[in-house]
Amino acid sequence: MKKDLISITDYSKEEYLKIMKLAAEFEKNPNQDILKGKVIASLFFEPSTRTRLSFETAINRLGGRVIGFVDPDSSSTTKGETLHDTIKMVSAYADLIVIRHPLEGTARYAAEISPVPVINAGDGANQHPTQTLLDMYSILKTQGTLDNMNIFMVGDLKYGRTVHSLIQAMSEFKNPIFNFIAPPELQMPKVYKLFLKEKGIRFFEHTEFTEIISEADIIYMTRVQKERFFDSIEYEKVKNMYILRNYMLKFTKPNVKILHPLPRVNEIHPDVDSNEKAYYFQQAKNGVFTRQAIIAHTMGLK
Ligand code: CP
Repeated sequence: MKKDLISITDYSKEEYLKIMKLAAEFEKNPNQDILKGKVIASLFFEPSTRTRLSFETAINRLGGRVIGFVDPDSSSTTKGETLHDTIKMVSAYADLIVIRHPLEGTARYAAEISPVPVINAGDGANQHPTQTLLDMYSILKTQGTLDNMNIFMVGDLKYGRTVHSLIQAMSEFKNPIFNFIAPPELQMPKVYKLFLKEKGIRFFEHTEFTEIISEADIIYMTRVQKERFFDSIEYEKVKNMYILRNYMLKFTKPNVKILHPLPRVNEIHPDVDSNEKAYYFQQAKNGVFTRQAIIAHTMGLK
């Protein structure tokens, strides 16, 4: 049976740990020819820098070839071809499909049509499972464990798909605590809070971004997702709500790391970049090794 990665919950805890282990191996030895003769389709219906380029780097380092598009306007979608037919065709050309799409559920739909495995590179405000695996790898590398983490998620928790996947994955580990800091308009959706309640996992909600971050092991900043707002006035109201500045880290724990899936707009002031607690650029670099691991696992090559 083919192995898709559409939601982070498609993987078990054992698979998360396997990906962490493989990622560490790829970090030590990134150039391996295990994808020789394989073609991977990269279909980006939405803009991307990190996800697309780290997938392409991962594939190139593993000796594979990439086909695809970075702009759906350059594909026959503009002539009216349906997603169904696009996936039917691409799956006849490639051994694996990586897809990003602005509509929730599109990656799952693609996986149902495609005879080759599909990896979700982000579907609307829903899920971004490969980002979550690289986030977990970053947490494991910096904290030495995935257990007992007090994770503060800040910003757009409504539309930010990366936080949705991350709480589901981290809930598989011992004693996580989540602190959600968001304006009322951008709070964590009820479905994820219900998920945590059912699992008996503690979470707290705040609207103020104050000294409470002194308890954090991880501060996970997010961008307000301008592209998902219907009303630009609503976006203007919340866009500058939380800005992390260097002085605010003075009383944080020595082990704390600042993560952000990037791109950032202004939610992390550049004066944080030189603080040793800033980890977002290394986090993005970890995306290559993690995606090498995900591809190898998906294709049964490791
Ligand atoms: N983190 C992330 O998904 O970044 P891109 O949108 O640049 O791929």
